[in-house]
Amino acid sequence: MAEDRWRSRHLLRVLLLFFLCSSLAPCFASNGNRETIEIEIGIGRSRTITCDPKNITGTWVGTRICSDGKGHGYSGFYCEGPPDKRNMPTVASVDFNGYHLAAPTVRGFIDDLPDLAIFHANSNRFGGTVPDLSRLPFFYELDLSNNVQTGCFPSFVLPLVNLSFLDLRYNNYSGQVPCAVFNIQTQVLFLNNNKFNGQIPANLGKTPANYITFAFNYFTGPIPRSIGQASNTLLEILFLGNQLCGCLPYEIGLLKKATVFDAGSNHLSGPIPLSFGCLKKVEQLNLAGNFLSGEVPDAVCQLANSMHGLLVNLSLSDNYFTSVGKCCVDLIKRNVLHVEKNCIAGLPGQRPAAECERFLKQPKPVCPGAQYVPCRLPAKEDAWAVADGEADRAPVASGYATYKALHPPERRKP
Ligand SMILES: *[C@@H]1O[C@H](CO)[C@@H](O)[C@H](O)[C@H]1NC(C)=O
Ligand SMILES: *[C@@H]1O[C@H](CO)[C@@H](O)[C@H](O)[C@H]1NC(C)=O
Ligand SMILES: *[C@@H]1O[C@H](CO)[C@@H](O)[C@H](O)[C@H]1NC(C)=O
Ligand SMILES: *[C@@H]1O[C@H](CO)[C@@H](O)[C@H](O)[C@H]1NC(C)=O
Repeated sequence: MAEDRWRSRHLLRVLLLFFLCSSLAPCFASNGNRETIEIEIGIGRSRTITCDPKNITGTWVGTRICSDGKGHGYSGFYCEGPPDKRNMPTVASVDFNGYHLAAPTVRGFIDDLPDLAIFHANSNRFGGTVPDLSRLPFFYELDLSNNVQTGCFPSFVLPLVNLSFLDLRYNNYSGQVPCAVFNIQTQVLFLNNNKFNGQIPANLGKTPANYITFAFNYFTGPIPRSIGQASNTLLEILFLGNQLCGCLPYEIGLLKKATVFDAGSNHLSGPIPLSFGCLKKVEQLNLAGNFLSGEVPDAVCQLANSMHGLLVNLSLSDNYFTSVGKCCVDLIKRNVLHVEKNCIAGLPGQRPAAECERFLKQPKPVCPGAQYVPCRLPAKEDAWAVADGEADRAPVASGYATYKALHPPERRKP
């Protein structure tokens, strides 16, 4: 009985939300039945799918909502008994990934599915912003990447501290990211390819996230020093392609579990802190395209020796470095270290002398802690005691979770 009631309630809701197609629809619109349209009009709401090129809504007919993944039930709707009512399946998960549906908003839909735990809707054209989901006690995964979400950072996300997956990349969000985002207990925080600006909040290090992408926004200001507080959890972080400035804080060297650290294409200046020699797990380290200068520390290059680290790719091109440590020379030959377009005497492909002179005449930034080493570095003499073939088995950059996030989640097939 209760289940039937639930079913009819949800059926009605789903119908209300999705069957009315705008007559202005630019492409296929579902031929939703008249009754539904009348209900919709009668209630005076207009939640519409305005475009449905794969005829997904064509499957949203009949009383069987729960999809079995084999073509029965409504495409994209999956059911499960919620934690408090295991034997009463309700819509627990909505997966519209790659459906290319268009709608002006998802408000009045996901926020009205009380037992929803997962909403995956990458590569659609859902506009508006994230609705208030605070009444959904089991909700924990939100993927709205590659949609047309706009406005400032969606404030209704902030109270969802128990989210474990938050993917908002490839939208049109703008403005500042609020500091409360780092209170969310998520493992994944993808914000890349939006139009966020302002500083990355100073409490960055509070985040428990393992994978973070700030890449390709308009962030300014420094990399927050608090980043070191994330040393037990942070595995990959991309600051790539913003307007971050100031010194690299030595606290980055505390990230003992990080495999990817990428702050390429920013406005960072000063030296590479010696603490970077403590990044024992780092595989991809990209600082190319900044205003960094001084000597590339031996301690960092030693991380490419399997005795001391796991480094396979150290990209420092397009900076103003003037020399490299002894251990680094070999890495250039092995194609691990990239130093084109710097100011290193005796190496090919460097900047014109006049450009280097102009830059080096400018006052140097003062970077506190640049010499501080929060770990034991290998002694110089044993640095290359063991011959090293590690680089031959190097994983390529594109194989990491965060670098994968730099591509739209699904490319439209021709
Ligand atoms: C969409 O799917 C429904 C149900 O399978 C079908 O009846 C309808 O003809 C389809 N429309 C188009 C345009 O393919
Ligand atoms: C994002 O906003 C810009 C204008 O700021 C607009 O030109 C562009 O089409 C928008 N993109 C999407 C996907 O909505
Ligand atoms: C988050 O989870 C904790 C522990 O399960 C719970 O006490 C708290 O109410 C939850 N908070 C929200 C906003 O869901
Ligand atoms: C090395 O890193 C640079 C900068 O991130 C990247 O462009 C390049 O593809 C990487 N090389 C490999 C072999 O992964």
